[in-house]
Amino acid sequence: MSTSSTPAPLASPDPAAASCRIGARGISRSFGPVQANVDVMLTVRPATVHAIVGENGAGKSTLMRMLYGLDHPDSGTVVIDDEEVVLSGPRAAIERRIGLVQQELAIIPELSLLENLVLGDEPAHLGRVDWKAARTRADELAASVGIEIDWNADAARTSIAIQQQVEILRLVYRGADVLILDEPTAVLAPAQADELLRLLSSLREAGRTVIFISHKLDEVLHIADRITILRSGRTIAEIERGEVDRAGLAAYIVGDSEVPHSEITRGTPGEVVLRIEGVSADDDRGIPRVDGVSLELRSGEIVGVAAVAGNGQEELAESLIGIRAVSGGTIRLGDDDISSRSVRARRRAGMRYVSADRKHEGLALTLSLTDNSIATPGLTSLARAGWLRRGAVAERVSSVLGRAAVRFGSASDPASSLSGGNQQRVVLGRETSGDTRVLIASQPTRGVDVKGIGYIHDLLRRARDEGAAIILFSEELDELRELSDRIVVLHRGRISGEVDGSSSRAEIGALMLGEHHGDAAS
Ligand SMILES: Nc1ncnc2c1ncn2[C@@H]1O[C@H](COP(=O)(O)OP(=O)(O)O)[C@@H](O)[C@H]1O
Ligand SMILES: [Mg+2]
Repeated sequence: MSTSSTPAPLASPDPAAASCRIGARGISRSFGPVQANVDVMLTVRPATVHAIVGENGAGKSTLMRMLYGLDHPDSGTVVIDDEEVVLSGPRAAIERRIGLVQQELAIIPELSLLENLVLGDEPAHLGRVDWKAARTRADELAASVGIEIDWNADAARTSIAIQQQVEILRLVYRGADVLILDEPTAVLAPAQADELLRLLSSLREAGRTVIFISHKLDEVLHIADRITILRSGRTIAEIERGEVDRAGLAAYIVGDSEVPHSEITRGTPGEVVLRIEGVSADDDRGIPRVDGVSLELRSGEIVGVAAVAGNGQEELAESLIGIRAVSGGTIRLGDDDISSRSVRARRRAGMRYVSADRKHEGLALTLSLTDNSIATPGLTSLARAGWLRRGAVAERVSSVLGRAAVRFGSASDPASSLSGGNQQRVVLGRETSGDTRVLIASQPTRGVDVKGIGYIHDLLRRARDEGAAIILFSEELDELRELSDRIVVLHRGRISGEVDGSSSRAEIGALMLGEHHGDAAS
């Protein structure tokens, strides 16, 4: 029952918006000095996909946790079905048919997908689990949203994309009709993300309500009926589909804060630094993924590599830095054949790497920012008789962190204290400082917000202008077009074409699907 006699001021006074399946009315929540949510207003209408956008740290996850009863407002209230409610915990939220998919999935790897689906709520017959009934239910559920799932598969052996779908279906199986998804596409390849978006549309068509958090503005503009923008914990706007374009949305997200917006400049290529000649490489299972790739990289240029996920780009990047052995061909740095040299030796010779998987390869999260800034083999000059030269270290650390404009408290804080975007800037600052001859950058802006992307692009251009030869692997075509002097396209492990950095998305897209240049005439 509503307690207020006057209608509470909603973010949108539109009378058609009266029906609120789930939302927030003036919610504030602080953690010590940090105001994670300040007077947040949210109105999510039934049977819509509602996107929440905002920079890292804007307060999105905090708000979602409160809508699910995992955390509680200091002031203000959660609204469910137009009614102000107090959610004592997730159980209360589940009773109101609310479900949350957090970034860490709750799938149990030791079980099959079917067991995961019904776990804790198994259909029973005569005191035993009725697996036949479970299977029928599972198939019906999947069919109702237009997907196919191999229910007998072990969860551990299925992709994150499938696990995510099963987790969503599990919530639906338990009766959830509001599904809150916190950055579900951050861990997905583009084709998988497209599939997830289709699943969300099906859920909406079936009358369910979806809250979708994403940094990928194209996804948001594609799927959302309504968008709420949070900035520094506050609701900046709540807008309808079609009321804003990409640039407008980006401007809402970052506000007036200074966004590094360097001009789109191109490089001035110098001499050839890296020669890749007929390189082939296999994936972890021994399946050939890179098939005779030849490419030259010059100092002072950025060469983009475009490919649909799974066409050999990761294996190529890894074999260039030496994490993965080549199965054929040679890699020459200057005049030296480095094809079988260790990662360490390659780094010492001036090769640097930004991994697509920064959590595992780029940073040691438990170590300090200092340790992470100097953790580059080849910087052994900083160590003397086992002791680090304090002055040199401090200088190095402030140059790396300063270069990347990293916001941090103290250099002795662990890397884990930074937001994801700032962590990635530490990696880029480090990998582009010093004597970088070749930089292999793999998905450098994956999961990073709009402002962070601006900084990272700046760092890449600056390294290029300082003479590095950069090979940029990215799934974001617009990123490749903005940064690259030329773009090579990989298709099934081979180069299917090379185009100018300013080529159209359509032209690059065709090559990504293996349609060779000049084929059209035949
Ligand atoms: N449990 C917590 N303790 C302390 N600070 C927190 C906690 N949860 C979130 N914060 C802080 O609140 C702010 C908003 O965080 P969050 O809701 O995770 O943002 P977003 O999901 O938009 O990136 C950040 O500054 C974050 O560090
Ligand atoms: Mg978050």
